[in-house]
Amino acid sequence: MRVVLFTGKGGVGKTTTAAATAVSAARAGIKTLVMSTDAAHSLGDALGVSLATARDDPDPVVEIEPGLCALQVSPTHSARRSWRSVQDYLLTVFKGLGIDPVVADELTQLPGAEEIIALLELRTQVESGLWDLVVVDCAPTAETLRLLALPEALAWHLDRLIPAQRGLLRALRPAASAATGLPLPGQQVLETLRQWQESLLEIQRILAAGTTSVRLVLTPERVVVAESRRTLTSLRLYGLTVDQVVVNRVFPDAAAPAQDCPEPDQAPAQNAWLAGWNVAQKRGLSEVRRSFEPLPIVIAPYLSEEPVGTDALAALAGARTGEVGDVLAAVPAQGMTVRPEDGGFLLTLPLPLVTAAEVDLKRRDDELLVSVVGQRRVLSLPSVLRRCVVTGAVVRNATLRVRFAPDERLWPVSARESVASE
Ligand SMILES: Nc1ncnc2c1ncn2[C@@H]1O[C@H](COP(=O)(O)OP(=O)(O)OP(=O)(O)O)[C@@H](O)[C@H]1O
Ligand SMILES: [Mg+2]
Repeated sequence: MRVVLFTGKGGVGKTTTAAATAVSAARAGIKTLVMSTDAAHSLGDALGVSLATARDDPDPVVEIEPGLCALQVSPTHSARRSWRSVQDYLLTVFKGLGIDPVVADELTQLPGAEEIIALLELRTQVESGLWDLVVVDCAPTAETLRLLALPEALAWHLDRLIPAQRGLLRALRPAASAATGLPLPGQQVLETLRQWQESLLEIQRILAAGTTSVRLVLTPERVVVAESRRTLTSLRLYGLTVDQVVVNRVFPDAAAPAQDCPEPDQAPAQNAWLAGWNVAQKRGLSEVRRSFEPLPIVIAPYLSEEPVGTDALAALAGARTGEVGDVLAAVPAQGMTVRPEDGGFLLTLPLPLVTAAEVDLKRRDDELLVSVVGQRRVLSLPSVLRRCVVTGAVVRNATLRVRFAPDERLWPVSARESVASE
């Protein structure tokens, strides 16, 4: 059983790529469910079917073709009202409290009902044992990160806000509320919060499992690549494994070797516009490789029309080039990790076969440049690390370990850091 989530910047082709992956897997004999956490409901549009189920139909799963089902979050899902009460309560609390620094930036707004209910559905479907593969079409990056950060964030709040002794809470409610300046939850809200916490922790276990991975969809444009680099680091911050980068809407000439692509000034006038894009996309593709290798990179061509319907999606999947791989293959252990440690954060990056003397580390605005014998990797720092300074770096057991401490006064810093040997 595999879970594959697709995310990326708005409009890059997440829904199309997720649907194409699902169709091609199903046609290869894999029992597949494709579902969306995106309230925009464009999954049905991509598949060319209506995914709306009857109002009183308890089963939101629609069969698209043999081996392939799709699910759209029901607008009448029973969890909707319950989530609203959690949302209302937490929003009041967020206003009165500083929130966990790990999620502060991404969690300025709580996910909406559709997204969160989709995660509940994901849990139900994963636990149903009906599928070999569940493909999840996520909302654009910011919302996805907010969604993925939620289980931990909610747990963080509940641990601090809800005393274990409910009786005590009841007895002390007026005094405790006055003392903290925060509204204390009523018994019913308390019960609802606990149930949600349990569900969300279960969902977090599914997301962090070795059978779950995220695929980053992007287009070969500089702005998109820059955002995707940050997304990759942020996903690591939340303990998710990215196992593939899909570069979508690539012009055939841009994907071809250098000599096949004419420079704009050599191209006939009517092709100058296209030639210009080919050159720009070629540069974009090099940037993608520099940023994401050794992650597998898949190229999906820019088709001459919108791929709508299962046949068109299967054709798009079949036209992919690069390291497409087997969708059911085991998820590889992730390279870079970022985790809280001693009041700061520790970033680790496996660098096989290197010694400290061969590693050069530079901080440049919101990036960390790691150079190893002539090769450079640009690590885009997630927002939480951007507000930190590097306090030390060591190479131990072929892993670069960089320590960060929060220090807003020193931000931005553009200093060269030294790498110590141990
Ligand atoms: N490879 C492709 N070739 C041609 N058209 C494509 C390709 N990929 C996607 N499209 C088209 O681009 C548009 C956007 O694609 P899609 O809806 O999949 O993006 P998205 O990332 O899910 O967007 P959103 O952020 O709004 O959810 C759609 O009209 C889709 O048909
Ligand atoms: Mg979409």
